[in-house]
Amino acid sequence: MSQLIRRAGEKDLKAVFAIETAVQEAPWAESAFADFQRDEDVYFYLVDDEQSGPIAFIIAIAGDDFLEILNFAVKPVSQGQGSGSKLFKYVLNEAAQSGIKAVRLEVREGNEPALAIYKKNGMKIVGLRKNYYSDGENALLMSGEIPSV
Ligand SMILES: CC(C)(COP(=O)(O)OP(=O)(O)OC[C@H]1O[C@@H](n2cnc3c(N)ncnc32)[C@H](O)[C@@H]1OP(=O)(O)O)[C@@H](O)C(=O)NCCC(=O)NCCS
Repeated sequence: MSQLIRRAGEKDLKAVFAIETAVQEAPWAESAFADFQRDEDVYFYLVDDEQSGPIAFIIAIAGDDFLEILNFAVKPVSQGQGSGSKLFKYVLNEAAQSGIKAVRLEVREGNEPALAIYKKNGMKIVGLRKNYYSDGENALLMSGEIPSV
């Protein structure tokens, strides 16, 4: 099974949106993905499987000196196989090459697979937003340093 990580192109938007709607209870609008894809400053990468096409994506934006993860998902049938971990490390590495030294994000308190990836990459919980999501779940704010390359 051959996979590569690359920037998302316009032709990938349908597949990315299909992943989004499969995993998110409140998916982003399809047009939001198109806007991010057109913006060259946005970190929009995916894992492209030779047989299945895009199976995971990540979208992040760079602030002055930090990277903010906005969206990150793996197709349900492909979860738990390490793709999320690889993609997350990849985007940190890309940011490090542009001199970005920190990363931050919000995550559901009960999202164990996501928390495992973030903690593995040295991120720490720095805040809590109570009842942040529409179903009442709390959001954790996490932040971490990005090792320089
Ligand atoms: C979160 C997500 C991106 C992770 O991607 P993935 O490819 O499934 O993750 P990986 O296979 O790389 O596994 C990540 C870690 O989670 C662990 N894990 C997987 N399922 C788990 C579970 N149900 N409970 C606890 N840990 C779990 C794995 O063991 C692994 O940890 P390890 O490397 O220490 O062994 C993916 O599950 C997903 O798309 N979830 C829905 C959308 C989402 O929550 N996005 C994140 C928003 S902040």
